Amino acid sequence: MRGAMATIFLTACVGTIESPEPAEAPPNAEENVGCAIGCHGSDTSNSPPSSVSGATETTAVAVGAHRAHLNPGASWHRVVACADCHVVPAAVGSPGHMDGDNKAELTFSSVAMPATWNGTTCTTRCHGTAAWGGTKVAPTWTLVDGSQATCGSCHGTPPPAPHPQGVTNCAQCHPTMEESSLAFRDPSSHINGVIDVVGAGVTGGCTSCHGSTTSAPPKDLTGNTAATARGVGAHAAHLRTATWHRDVTCSSCHAVPTTLDAPGHRDGDNVAEVTFDGLNPAGLYTAATASCSQQYCHGNGRGANGTVSWVTPGALGCTSCHQTNGTGMSGDHRRHIIEEGMRCSECHRDVVDANQTIIGKALHVNGVHEVKMAQGTFNPATRSCTNTGCHGTETW
Ligand code: HEC
Ligand code: HEC
Ligand code: HEC
Ligand code: HEC
Ligand code: HEC
Ligand code: HEC
Ligand code: HEC
Repeated sequence: MRGAMATIFLTACVGTIESPEPAEAPPNAEENVGCAIGCHGSDTSNSPPSSVSGATETTAVAVGAHRAHLNPGASWHRVVACADCHVVPAAVGSPGHMDGDNKAELTFSSVAMPATWNGTTCTTRCHGTAAWGGTKVAPTWTLVDGSQATCGSCHGTPPPAPHPQGVTNCAQCHPTMEESSLAFRDPSSHINGVIDVVGAGVTGGCTSCHGSTTSAPPKDLTGNTAATARGVGAHAAHLRTATWHRDVTCSSCHAVPTTLDAPGHRDGDNVAEVTFDGLNPAGLYTAATASCSQQYCHGNGRGANGTVSWVTPGALGCTSCHQTNGTGMSGDHRRHIIEEGMRCSECHRDVVDANQTIIGKALHVNGVHEVKMAQGTFNPATRSCTNTGCHGTETW
């Protein structure tokens, strides 16, 4: 407070606190009953307006954006307290209250930190950062027209990458928000110093941005759940417990981050890196067409020759990867299958039964040609069979 003036008003304030006159000047609602009478504030708040010098316009530094902050009915942020910006004196005579320098001291609370005040503008955590895409992150205290309190003022809606991009339903990940709306379900959690995210604590928070029971889509980063959406695609088809092929894990197609900030995870473009494992060293994913090519897993077992759409749901028949009639198959398949009518199970009995049901799923699409007959052996090195019961040693 002001030095000379303070001395004058000190008497008035002390007198008022000790003997308020309810009929003429009802004490205001706050605990420091009567601060308004003769000093600052009004019937409903101890904060200016009016200021110590009697100013009431928001363009006066002493008044500024007090009431804009202290509005108890705010629909979009937590209730701000005097203590967020000042050390609140317990009594008129408290040390530091009227210290003679003519200025109210600004001491920010932890919610607002880091914070600075230069007499005109503030920078506080409450008002976001440029890194979050905020455009008014050093608001002018005496500009009280709402222009520094729009959604984009403190952070983008949404903030720039690595925050998920292209999202519109904030509620998908922020429980503070109403579904598909920029209105707040829980204003008291907004600008309270904590970024509220769903799923935090569950699966390490991975599912707040993508996934549901595991971190794999659905949902994808933009909230899609349909398998025809590129971000969702055939994740579930690959990752569910299979009956006919070896288990597929995230690492079959991605370098998997162990933490949110692991290198290479959120690298800024919001596009997942697809890096195939050792079974598919030449494998390519083409985002433009949402298809995979040069795949061993989707090929005929004779190299990196499979191509498949990532976004066309539906079960794969046996012939989507390799034939069952000898076509494109190695060595003497055609002769044995077509001319001699042999079943697959006669030579691949660990993998398939006589009804073409896969019985050894861990051995199917695992990179190894499993040849097992009722009798005799196949030597992969020489590609020849011995003692089969059907014929002597023959090269495949
Ligand atoms: C968002 C931050 C903020 C909040 C919250 C806030 N103030 Fe202030 N207050 C300021 C600023 C900024 C000034 C101006 C400081 C200056 O003059 O340099 C100020 C000045 C004052 C002054 C001095 C006025 C004058 O005439 O010089 C008083 C008294 C005051 N505040 C009381 C309060 C009370 C009481 C509350 C709570 C009911 C409150 N303030 C809440 C930021 C805040
Ligand atoms: C005065 C600055 C400011 C304005 C204006 C603002 N925000 Fe925020 N917002 C923040 C800060 C700071 C955070 C960081 C988290 C926290 O402290 O609650 C945040 C966080 C959020 C979050 C993350 C969830 C959460 O609450 O932690 C959402 C969603 C959000 N804001 C939406 C909005 C929308 C919608 C608007 C416009 C109606 C808006 N914000 C306006 C400062 C602001
Ligand atoms: C797909 C999930 C998701 C959606 C949708 C989403 N957010 Fe976020 N948001 C997050 C996560 C997770 C964080 C915390 C990131 C961190 O801690 O680094 C976050 C953080 C924030 C922050 C704090 C600043 C930052 O970048 O860390 C703000 C502000 C925010 N979100 C606003 C919004 C708004 C506004 C929307 C809606 C337009 C929105 N978010 C939609 C997941 C999402
Ligand atoms: C069979 C290969 C495959 C497996 C297995 C796989 N993914 Fe993916 N994933 C992809 C492809 C392909 C895309 C690219 C979609 C696009 O952006 O076009 C993708 C995209 C993603 C995305 C980005 C989604 C978006 O919204 O853009 C995330 C996140 C992801 N995968 C996580 C996982 C996790 C976690 C697992 C394991 C639990 C997993 N994936 C397993 C192939 C796979
Ligand atoms: C704040 C949101 C967010 C959270 C939380 C999150 N991710 Fe991601 N994740 C992304 C984004 C964005 C991408 C797209 C990749 C990019 O931007 O480069 C991604 C991509 C992925 C991918 C695809 C491979 C890649 O790096 O591109 C995997 C796998 C993945 N995340 C796993 C996880 C796991 C596991 C966790 C928990 C430890 C997790 N994510 C938590 C945002 C998130
Ligand atoms: C997603 C592609 C794909 C589908 C669908 C597929 N296979 Fe295969 N199959 C392969 C590949 C690749 C191999 C090569 C050997 C390996 O890596 O296990 C193979 C090998 C085999 C073998 C040889 C034994 C072995 O595993 O080495 C038999 C028998 C077989 N498949 C039968 C079937 C039958 C029956 C079906 C339908 C129920 C089927 N396959 C569906 C990809 C597929
Ligand atoms: C007479 C024995 C025999 C029969 C019957 C047979 N296979 Fe094979 N199969 C083999 C041998 C031997 C190999 C190993 C070739 C190699 O590793 O060079 C093989 C390899 C394969 C491979 C790996 C790719 C390739 O062409 O070498 C697939 C896929 C396959 N068989 C599927 C089948 C299916 C499906 C059937 C039934 C429609 C079948 N096989 C019937 C003996 C047989």
